[in-house]
Amino acid sequence: MNNLNRQPYISGLLVFIGFILSFAAFHTSYARAGEKGQVIKGTSITVAKPEIDAQSGLVKAEGFNLVLAHCSACHSSSLITQNAMSRERWLDTIRWMQETQKLWALGEAEPVILDYLSTWYGPKKSARRPQLSPHLLPKQ
Ligand code: HEC
Repeated sequence: MNNLNRQPYISGLLVFIGFILSFAAFHTSYARAGEKGQVIKGTSITVAKPEIDAQSGLVKAEGFNLVLAHCSACHSSSLITQNAMSRERWLDTIRWMQETQKLWALGEAEPVILDYLSTWYGPKKSARRPQLSPHLLPKQ
């Protein structure tokens, strides 16, 4: 009689342990993949940190020299680094400076500068990590 009464508890416990184990397995495989920088279904988990220029605080990437030359003459480049705008809004800002602040025409440098600005100082992405692929989730 006593044994029979305990059975539901024991199976409940087994389900619970199973849940913990599958969660742990899922978690470690996820972490290990991340360490190696593996690409999981097109989503790389490790993101290379861009190099930052110590003087200006700007990301050193394609277009950096042009931005430094054209955009740090009148004001601190922190006006750039503290902003997060789409390509269109960066263009609006540039047009506004051209119309009201005597910013010169950027010519062929303009598209390169816009690429740079919208890539490195584009709208903030969500802080959430990308969704996991179904094959990484615990079996249902
Ligand atoms: C000819 C001078 C000049 C140059 C060159 C210049 N700016 Fe400006 N910019 C200004 C002035 C003046 C302001 C207003 C500063 C303030 O409000 O304190 C400004 C403001 C800004 C702002 C803030 C806008 C806002 O809405 O608050 C951003 C962002 C900016 N500039 C980015 C740039 C970028 C990117 C470049 C290069 C393409 C650039 N600036 C080149 C004069 C210039």
